[in-house]
Amino acid sequence: MKKLSRLYIETYGCQMNFSDSEIVASVLTDEDFTIVDEASEADLILLNTCSIRDKAEQRIWKRLEHLHALKRKNHQLKIGVIGCMAERLKEKLLEGDKAVDLIAGPDAYRDLPNLVREMELGQKAANVQLSLEETYDDIQPVRYHSNGISAFVSIMRGCENFCSYCVVPFTRGKERSRPVETIIGECVVLQQKGYKEVTLLGQNVNSYLHTDEEGQSINFAQLLEKVALTVPEMRIRFTTSHPKDLPNVLLHTIAANKNICHAVHLAMQSGSTKVLEQMNRKYTRDFYLERIQAVREIIPDAAVSTDIIAGFCDETEEDHQETLSAMRSAAFEYAFMFKYSERSGTIASKKFTDNVPEEVKTRRLEEIIHLQQELSLESNTRDIGKEFEVLVEGVSKKSENKLFGRNSQNKVIVFGNTGQKAGDFVRVVVTECTSATLIGEVAK
Ligand code: 5AD
Ligand code: SF4
Repeated sequence: MKKLSRLYIETYGCQMNFSDSEIVASVLTDEDFTIVDEASEADLILLNTCSIRDKAEQRIWKRLEHLHALKRKNHQLKIGVIGCMAERLKEKLLEGDKAVDLIAGPDAYRDLPNLVREMELGQKAANVQLSLEETYDDIQPVRYHSNGISAFVSIMRGCENFCSYCVVPFTRGKERSRPVETIIGECVVLQQKGYKEVTLLGQNVNSYLHTDEEGQSINFAQLLEKVALTVPEMRIRFTTSHPKDLPNVLLHTIAANKNICHAVHLAMQSGSTKVLEQMNRKYTRDFYLERIQAVREIIPDAAVSTDIIAGFCDETEEDHQETLSAMRSAAFEYAFMFKYSERSGTIASKKFTDNVPEEVKTRRLEEIIHLQQELSLESNTRDIGKEFEVLVEGVSKKSENKLFGRNSQNKVIVFGNTGQKAGDFVRVVVTECTSATLIGEVAK
């Protein structure tokens, strides 16, 4: 078989997956692969997949059916499934007459060149080994889809919180933190290349802890400050945080460094202590709301976003009402909201019954979404008349003479173009809003 050389990567799921795809691009472009912009131009298509909810996996199965048809027309084409779904389903993905020729789990990307060679010999190739150490620390990501303004830097991998609903500890393995020097090195390179914003990424960024050979440890707050001081011209963001690891010292670090953005993403999941316990979240409703209050006091202009699951096992109407009331107390700026989706292998799938009827889940989710729209609109309305520094990302989709960007709070602001361009920092006064967007004009 001919040597494969044209790679197309399709990424699904979280930002961690997008960041991993840049590692994959780096590993394979070092092996003479060229990244192509269209699947139709490729001889190797890799799907970097997500397993978090059943819907995410269903999307991939549909895509694989489509690619199967493409393969019948183009016999040179090879298909790989990488990431969480490869890790979860393993060799099952290679069985029968599926389109898949290669599987690689999230810790197996260094092995991709070998796996590709096996495929070139006409075999199916698989590596779903998880690792205790792999952080890809020395690999310079190839930012093939970047806007040149904003970049992700992965600082830790894996998760060992074992929330009872979640598949991630099984697909991404144990927590491990990347050495400080390589994180700093990557940020410096980004600043030199003209990037304006960096997001430090991990399943649990705030449990970052790295101990060097001399036994010196550095925690997340210390790392964050170090990054902020090293690249003072860049904005620093981070995601995602667990409420149990959000001490005041971290909040003070955010408040004290002007280039650390005032946006905190803190997944609540539920407002009912009973449900939280069943979810193994390791905090109560009161503890969570107290942490939100601390954010509001220490960083008064912070935006707080969250994740919420509707219809977890045994969730009663009362529990659901508690979620709604906690949302009101927290006054979230933004939320990602989901229906509970049972994942096999998780603690919830073994210990509890997925017993909230689908139509009840749907109705509860709708109520949650509706309330969040109100809260977002209230928060945006409070911003009218305020001035923000906006990092311009590009031309607004709706109007050619308008630009859009984000403020420190991560809210999108659309404003009239008075000669600015992508990558500029500009001061904008908010004049109007919707629940999703702030609208403004360049400050005089
Ligand atoms: N069902 C629905 N939502 C889930 N999440 C994680 N696992 C599940 C599941 N089984 C949500 C959580 C998490 C976000 C990334 O996805 O809210 O914070
Ligand atoms: Fe999906 Fe979670 Fe895996 Fe990210 S880590 S790809 S959200 S399952």
